[in-house]
Amino acid sequence: MRMVDLIEKKREGHALTTEEIQFIIKGYTNGDVPDYQMSALAMAIFFKDMNDQERADLTMAMVNSGDTIDLSEIEGIKVDKHSTGGVGDTTTLVLAPLVAALDVPVAKMSGRGLGHTGGTIDKLESIEGFHVEITNEQFIELVNKDKIAVIGQSGNLTPADKKLYALRDVTATVNSIPLIASSIMSKKIAAGADAIVLDVKTGAGAFMKTVEDAKELAHAMVSIGNNVGRKTMAVISDMSQPLGFAIGNALEVKEAIDTLQGKGPKDLEELCLVLGSQMVYLAGKASSLEEAEAKLKEVMANGKALEKFKVFLAGQGGDASVVDQPEKLPQAKFKIEVPAKENGVVSEIVADEIGTAAMILGAGRATKESEIDLAVGLMLNKKIGDKVEAGDSLVTIHSNKENVEDVMNIIYKNIKIADKAEAPTLVYSVVTE
Ligand code: URA
Ligand code: CA
Repeated sequence: MRMVDLIEKKREGHALTTEEIQFIIKGYTNGDVPDYQMSALAMAIFFKDMNDQERADLTMAMVNSGDTIDLSEIEGIKVDKHSTGGVGDTTTLVLAPLVAALDVPVAKMSGRGLGHTGGTIDKLESIEGFHVEITNEQFIELVNKDKIAVIGQSGNLTPADKKLYALRDVTATVNSIPLIASSIMSKKIAAGADAIVLDVKTGAGAFMKTVEDAKELAHAMVSIGNNVGRKTMAVISDMSQPLGFAIGNALEVKEAIDTLQGKGPKDLEELCLVLGSQMVYLAGKASSLEEAEAKLKEVMANGKALEKFKVFLAGQGGDASVVDQPEKLPQAKFKIEVPAKENGVVSEIVADEIGTAAMILGAGRATKESEIDLAVGLMLNKKIGDKVEAGDSLVTIHSNKENVEDVMNIIYKNIKIADKAEAPTLVYSVVTE
């Protein structure tokens, strides 16, 4: 087999076989296929697309390019959730204990935040003592005992994807549905998921700017999952503004605690119920999405979800008393209000720019090496569609430095006030096949 022939085959719009795709990914991972040939192929895929079989083959070839996590010692169907990336997206912190309270095993491998998006591990580390440096054995034992544990990323998972993603980034081939879908799915499958729930974000703060593009990506991923034996569902949700009110690590933990008790922001609660229902249903703990949702509401109301959060924190060395006394979470020195300059209705809150403002305060990392400040961040006091009067606080800045002029400027530029505006739709659609 010669790479040049395979590039030509794809260039002419023909489908590659399973063996051909395996040959390409193996060769690319071990260096036999050079970057220049792989970029030519990526560009051919960008223009000629891949059929369902090719997409499934590409996904599995990338899964098999490195280590895979074996969760077979964990009882039950392991359902993983993945979000295509958002700002102030507190869903994982809420969903993990919420579905675990219904005995859905949550064996979560998580990362740290980079740029304007936060990471679940950073958020959890704002709880005194909590740590994710546990052995695989401890991880499996915790999930079997408590139904919930989080571990840091380890091992050499999907090296082919790592290399290809970096190459796509510099060859204008990131935005290709078959390449994005296989990239995301390969990582979830390598991490051991039996079933997958996807939160595909759309809007200004998201990768997929339109609902149509988001739907196409969701269908592509659901189809790959089902073709490789992992039941998969997806939700298309809004990221035209940050989710909930809190953006920042300790602030989001507090927001998650509120939401687990049914006292959180309504948009965050709604999205958690939709995603959580899919997780519970795919794990076989309910016979319909409606039944799953009713069960989730029950564990929120009767305190079992909150109790599960405490068990989870304690299981990994964390001080579970923060759940009842959230003032024990790291607190910023200064709370600075950002008053509206005019009357009207909030019409825009540009999610990624607001995420960048939180990052500049220290809540996120500009580079992988940056230190973060767990206490700082932003609390939105208004969301799109809310009425404001001049002087009302749009945002409360939680900061450890007194001068936050740069952050204020970004906020003023990216929260727009108009004569009228309506709250955006939160969940656009649910994709089940
Ligand atoms: N996220 C990924 O993990 N891969 C892509 O290709 C795009 C977004
Ligand atoms: Ca939030």
